[in-house]
Amino acid sequence: MTENPVILLTVEDEILYITINRPQKLNALNDEVLKEIENAVDELNSNDAIRGAIITGQGEKAFVAGADIGAFLEAPKESGKELAQKGQEVFFKIEQSKKPIIAAVNGYALGGGCELALCCHFRLASANAKFGQPEINLGIIPGYGGTQRLPQLIGKGRAMEMMMTAENIDAAEAFRIGLVNSVCSEEALMDMAKQKMLVIIQKPKFALEQLIKAVNGNISKSNGYVNEANCFGESFASEEKTEGVTAFLEKRKPIFNK
Ligand code: COA
Repeated sequence: MTENPVILLTVEDEILYITINRPQKLNALNDEVLKEIENAVDELNSNDAIRGAIITGQGEKAFVAGADIGAFLEAPKESGKELAQKGQEVFFKIEQSKKPIIAAVNGYALGGGCELALCCHFRLASANAKFGQPEINLGIIPGYGGTQRLPQLIGKGRAMEMMMTAENIDAAEAFRIGLVNSVCSEEALMDMAKQKMLVIIQKPKFALEQLIKAVNGNISKSNGYVNEANCFGESFASEEKTEGVTAFLEKRKPIFNK
């Protein structure tokens, strides 16, 4: 028996649809999913028959509910920094893609899922979408660029609040604060994303490429991102992380020392 592919790829009207396909785990990101996303972005940028990509999640419940928490428990405690760097690299690749990439957020976009949406060129959402950075509940911090991109997009104060409280925000609030550009019904989301992408891919290719490069001009892979990976690594090695992750997997509330 062959296992389901973790990513579904289809091309229609010069648009590549990248659908993360682990609905039973709310499309959580493991190493294989990250690798396949990276391959899909390479395909987008090397295939002349494709002009842009739309990333979404399979099923009705989630875009991506975060990095795979199960894998966190198995990973050696000193591997946190490397883990963050791996995710950061894939997300840089999306952000710096020569061709446009839109996130069509169709449910939970939590932790690494919110960070995946953040590194796309912009975000559209269905009314049932929910955004959050709940890592603190697991005794860790965002490590795939969220500590950098979320403040850039919605301001430091709101970003701090989301990351410190771990409270989710709904699609309407995400729209209000500029985290997403438009919200529509669940049924209309993919068509809205397609129509937007069709407008974009009529534009001249080289100018689009230069536009993305120009808007991303101030992004440096060093400083903030290196610091984030270091801080993620520190939190990943902590007892708080062991308790937070174990509690999630045991479906109970974590007990952290005061
Ligand atoms: N990693 C691994 N598995 C995950 C996951 C993640 N990030 N998010 C959800 N899942 C799994 C659950 O463990 C569950 O698996 P099981 O059926 O084998 O027990 C399945 O997906 C369905 O999730 P469940 O929690 O039962 O759904 P729910 O509707 O009760 O809650 C959420 C939905 C999104 C609120 C909840 O799953 C959640 O809090 N997920 C983690 C979010 C998070 O902390 N993300 C950041 C990670 S760094």
